Amino acid sequence: MTPATAQPDLNSIRARLQAIGQTQLLAFADDLDDAGRRALAARLAAIDLERVPQLAKYALTKDTHDATPGKLEPAPYYPCNAASPQRPWNREQYEMAGEALIRAGKVAAFTVAGGQGSRLGFDGPKGCYPAGAVTGKSLFQMLAEQVRAAGAKYGVTIPWRLMTSPLNHEPTIEFFEKHKHFGLDPKQVGFFQQGVLPSFNDATGKMLLAAKDEPATNPDGHGGSLKALYTSGAVEELQALGVEHLSYTQIDNPLVRMIDPVFIGLHAAAPDSSGEMSSKMIAKTDAAEKVGVFCKADGHVRVIEYSDLPAALTNERDERGELRFNAGSPAIHVISLDFVRRLNESPEGFALPLHRAHKKVPHLDLETGELIEPEQPNAIKLETFVFDAIPMCEQSIVLETDRFEFAPIKNADGNDSPATSYVLQTERAAQWLEAAGVRVPRKADGAVDCVIELNPLTATEESELEKADKPDAIASGERIAL
Ligand code: UTP
Repeated sequence: MTPATAQPDLNSIRARLQAIGQTQLLAFADDLDDAGRRALAARLAAIDLERVPQLAKYALTKDTHDATPGKLEPAPYYPCNAASPQRPWNREQYEMAGEALIRAGKVAAFTVAGGQGSRLGFDGPKGCYPAGAVTGKSLFQMLAEQVRAAGAKYGVTIPWRLMTSPLNHEPTIEFFEKHKHFGLDPKQVGFFQQGVLPSFNDATGKMLLAAKDEPATNPDGHGGSLKALYTSGAVEELQALGVEHLSYTQIDNPLVRMIDPVFIGLHAAAPDSSGEMSSKMIAKTDAAEKVGVFCKADGHVRVIEYSDLPAALTNERDERGELRFNAGSPAIHVISLDFVRRLNESPEGFALPLHRAHKKVPHLDLETGELIEPEQPNAIKLETFVFDAIPMCEQSIVLETDRFEFAPIKNADGNDSPATSYVLQTERAAQWLEAAGVRVPRKADGAVDCVIELNPLTATEESELEKADKPDAIASGERIAL
């Protein structure tokens, strides 16, 4: 029998809540049956209550800008064009190094998929969103097909780990099971959950109630992956399989290269890389583009959020008229498992800085118990960002990639929406097909005049299209999946 002390009980939690001034969380405890009281106690016990006053204080801080380190320089990067006089480098050498690691089973794919997807407003895990420009296949499927394609290409079973959150863990697993893991071996695919942080009333710093038996919480940001990889046992399990590096991607970008030998090779073998955590960058289209920017400060590469980069630097141009701070972050990394282990096993403990977001969070009215759906942001959510671990590396490299690798679906319309992703999916496929001799219809302004979706199992890079089955020409207005 489990000793009674192993179960969190509301009486001991009440004392802890009193000590931190958050007893409103028990406002409806007396209305609950035994199961409800146990559920509430377990949910409260899962929160680091003693840390709540510090979190609440930070949530209410008026300064919305995070402190930026003193002198910022642009971070150096390996240009997309390896022959660029700016910084020539040997692409083939690193491609071979990366390929050798992939073939030897030292690389796993890792996708963070625990977010709330609130901007997209889709009912269900974001990975279930129909993202294929023609087929409407899901983001999960589009990435799964890349893992299959890379496995076939390199003759190896590539493990794929996905981070979910308590919000979407079960529906994510159900979706994979319903779709038979999209042709992957179920043993190849693994899921673990990230942690959560409480959401705070933006005026009082009090934690909110999502239901009578549940405090309002939010996933702890993609930075939570660096902890959850370790605490879930994924690091240990993958290292036992012989994996050394994780190819980190986010679920909302269907064109991200899940396994990129050049990037992996640079991460592992470049002389200025400590092989801990590396990043891709895309050149910003204009100064106003809202992406984090790679900078160098105090000898370390780091990403500064667009809102924290001083305007003078955001707009600064070099002698060629190019933006000096032009390296935008598309959130694509390679992370070594040893690095994740080192962070988590550090004797000083490991924490990433917190970031605040002002959001609409549904919550119970403490007088009536009714659920309030706010029309204006009413709460502060706290999150951590994975890129904040970059300055914790000894040395970290950045590789430029082309714009096509960043086709995210974040908003229902406008920027970074399904519509913009379809255009990028189509344009990339069109350029590859044209290079392989296929006639693709274009309008007078050069825009592609059809919709094309390329299955990763057909090609994950331009050269693979040469041998693939393809038409001689595509008709204007056609919708074609290849
Ligand atoms: P976003 O920052 O775009 O957030 O996540 P989101 O939660 O998906 O969407 P919004 O902001 O509510 O509209 C970028 C990536 O990081 C993952 C997301 O799933 C997405 O792949 N993520 C984000 C997590 O895994 N956990 C989090 O706590 C936050």
